[in-house]
Amino acid sequence: MSDRYAVIGNPIEHSRSPEIHAAFARQTGQDMVYERILGSLDDFEGDVRRFIAEGGRGMNVTVPFKERAFRLADEPSERAQRAGAVNTFTFDGDRVLGDNTDGAGLVRDLGCNHRFAFAGSRILLLGAGGASRGVLFPLLEEGPDQLVIANRTASKAVELAELAGDVRVTGCGLDELRGRRFDLIVNGTAAGLQGAVPAIPDDCLASGGWTYDMMYGSEPTAFVRWGQAHGAARALDGLGMLVEQAAESFFLWRGVMPDTAPVIEMLR
Ligand code: ATR
Repeated sequence: MSDRYAVIGNPIEHSRSPEIHAAFARQTGQDMVYERILGSLDDFEGDVRRFIAEGGRGMNVTVPFKERAFRLADEPSERAQRAGAVNTFTFDGDRVLGDNTDGAGLVRDLGCNHRFAFAGSRILLLGAGGASRGVLFPLLEEGPDQLVIANRTASKAVELAELAGDVRVTGCGLDELRGRRFDLIVNGTAAGLQGAVPAIPDDCLASGGWTYDMMYGSEPTAFVRWGQAHGAARALDGLGMLVEQAAESFFLWRGVMPDTAPVIEMLR
């Protein structure tokens, strides 16, 4: 019987992870199946335990369960501990291993696929929720000069910056960005769900600067359009990040790194 994997979230019907992992499995000749599971808001933990009992080998976890997945993991990796969230479970006998590949996915998409030069750059990270926390430490490891976290609720940005414990990182409100310029603006807010863009100054993108929306859609997202309208050299959406985080999970499970470029192209 093929090894079983799944993605769990709520809602889940629009998840593209099954397509992505099926493509990786075809490409690398791995015998596996990968399904969607609608997690119950009351009993996510029970849903995971059931999948393990049925012989499941691993799971991806998506909104809104990543923090609960972190608490459920017996052995969270260092990446998961820093993110305070788990997006990848590996079931090893009775043990539930938890990891987080989101930040690595973002960094691989920006750095490897698009060749963004992180070293010495000034990065603005918008939002101070789970999405931002998940990518904060991996971004810092790439060697930017500064990383400013800006959030609608300033106190949450300050709190997340303190958690980073790094002199390069500061937190502030969106209204405190006046007069500052950044080489890369990463949108980790949920504003896009309402088709909105965080209220940032028109001139906070440096000349030649890039924008990156961690969200994606069949049409350009509101933040991609913001980047295009404000002179971004590149205005990217999160489809590449989605495929790259999936590739990192696939590697954890199967020990083979798939080629992501054809899969990103297939999804576009
Ligand atoms: P996630 O885990 O996806 O990051 P979250 O923890 O609810 O979700 O965080 C959502 C983030 O999007 C927060 O930073 C939120 O700002 P607040 O902390 O001020 O609530 C931000 N956000 C949501 N809607 C927004 C909007 N319309 N404009 C700006 N920021 C927004």
